[in-house]
Amino acid sequence: MCGVFGYVGKSGAAGKIVNGLKRLEYRGYDSWGIAVVKEGEIEVTKKVGAIGDLDVGEWPESHIGVGHTRWATHGGVTEVNAHPHFSTDKSFVLAQNGIVENYQDLKKNLINEDFEFISETDTEVIVRLVEDKLKSVSDLREAVRLAFLDLEGRNTIVVLSSKIDHVIAVRNGSPLVVGVGSGEYFFASDTLSFADKTSRVVFINDGEIVEYKDGEISVFDAESGKKIDFTIEELENLDVDVDKSGYDHFMLKEIVEQKDTVRSAVQYSMKELEPLIGTVKKSSTVYTIGAGTASYEAGQAAYFLRKIAGVKAVELKSYEVDSYRDLFSPNDLIIAYSQSGETADTVEAVEFAISRGAKVASIVNMLGSTLTRISDMPFFVRSGPEICVCSTKAFSAKLSWSLLVSCAIAGKYDEAKKSIYCLSDMLQSYFSDKLFERIRDLSRKLKKSDHAFILGRGQNYYITLESALKIKEISYLHAEGFAGGELKHGVIALIEKGTPVFVLIGKDEEKENIISAAAEVKARGAWLIGVGQVENELFDEFIATPDVGVASCISNVIPFQLVSYFLALELGYDPDKPRNLAKSVTVK
Ligand code: F6R
Repeated sequence: MCGVFGYVGKSGAAGKIVNGLKRLEYRGYDSWGIAVVKEGEIEVTKKVGAIGDLDVGEWPESHIGVGHTRWATHGGVTEVNAHPHFSTDKSFVLAQNGIVENYQDLKKNLINEDFEFISETDTEVIVRLVEDKLKSVSDLREAVRLAFLDLEGRNTIVVLSSKIDHVIAVRNGSPLVVGVGSGEYFFASDTLSFADKTSRVVFINDGEIVEYKDGEISVFDAESGKKIDFTIEELENLDVDVDKSGYDHFMLKEIVEQKDTVRSAVQYSMKELEPLIGTVKKSSTVYTIGAGTASYEAGQAAYFLRKIAGVKAVELKSYEVDSYRDLFSPNDLIIAYSQSGETADTVEAVEFAISRGAKVASIVNMLGSTLTRISDMPFFVRSGPEICVCSTKAFSAKLSWSLLVSCAIAGKYDEAKKSIYCLSDMLQSYFSDKLFERIRDLSRKLKKSDHAFILGRGQNYYITLESALKIKEISYLHAEGFAGGELKHGVIALIEKGTPVFVLIGKDEEKENIISAAAEVKARGAWLIGVGQVENELFDEFIATPDVGVASCISNVIPFQLVSYFLALELGYDPDKPRNLAKSVTVK
């Protein structure tokens, strides 16, 4: 939710900021703004919409500036509400990522003190608050610090001064990292935004301020204002391609990349998994946790742990942990699922579990992210950057890793690895123009429907939920996933002649039951599309997926990722940037 990107260097600030913001657009793309300093004055440009191919040739030459890409929380998508926001005397601008939870109270007080507001944002409250503090302190850093201490919520702010080369950034909850280049610094929401420039990084922790002044950076404790030490870390494998590699969209590129990413996700030896396996075995309950797609990964992982490894595992939605809070204990293990490692709901739930003494493992795609840094046992799926807003390759990668862990606990490490490698091998030839054409044809028929239903049982149940989410978020068509057993308890009332119903089917103990569920909807006129490893005469159409033993369920999500993609194209939507969404949800 929103990306911030500050830059100080030798020259070309606008171009560097545009480059950084493009790499941050997955965090929100409803509007953007860039401020650069030229001869002691700040020039701000703001626009509604995604950045696109912006030409900065005409922009003032500058060596210092700050940019922002927005996912609106408070106030509509307008240029006025876009960040950065000016102070009244135009001596500084401020950009924010987060939500000021007490903004209404703060705003009332500031209005009583005759401050005027021009936007509808909570961000402007911070700007006026800093101005208010500047009445009693002359130092901008101190004013920012005092204002920051008045804020409630998870916020990261970046402030740029017009007077001297001066950037101040503060973190609480929302991510903030500093890239240290050769004679240049980047103050950003993630490492990916400057990964093509430097791999040297300072991670700013919650409650810390970083200041650039007099040619160097310093870090301060926000509570006390005292200077504190910091370390520059050298990150490996940070600079990765973020181009479409000839594909029309990142989404299709990332779907196809699964042929390799499922394999990368299981590059853990038995020895590397041992600390986790040992903790799982000692734990009284293992809670798997995540949000959105990651919550379905958590659900599937808990299923694998119960079914394959006989472990008492419970899936939790990160945003619904409240009733479990008092139950977390030092005997429990939390396994957190997240692509970004920054999802506020998940980070907060994990922080709470840590405060109750529980152990935490995490499985994340983004190096250096908050979740990995607060976990006792961080694991990476190494899928490479997922730029499309919806998650595809990170989903199958985390499922592959989870399968490996469960099988390893059950003494079947080799079997799991063999199945995943087999999946990877089969996917090399699975993605073909023929398959894409077939699914595009199916999408042409599907787009005329009001609803689509997806049925699965056992190993395929969470795949139905994820598949339905993909269709909803990318094509805006209403789709729901159900356990095969559930439909007849109510939802079957929605089935009428021609209603599309997908049926996930594998060579498992659920096969007969899912065929019965399929027969029940077929009897009511449903158009049945089978997906999986077992064809059946009931199906009007059948999409075969790789038959790879225990890993077969992972392959079943792929046709739905493709259906979502082609449906979006058929309906004229941009699959990479679905409406209303942002990839990294760092607000609650
Ligand atoms: C859906 C999607 C979201 C995320 C969710 C959690 O395609 O991408 O549902 O899965 O917002 O994000 P992470 O995995 O970054 O914690």
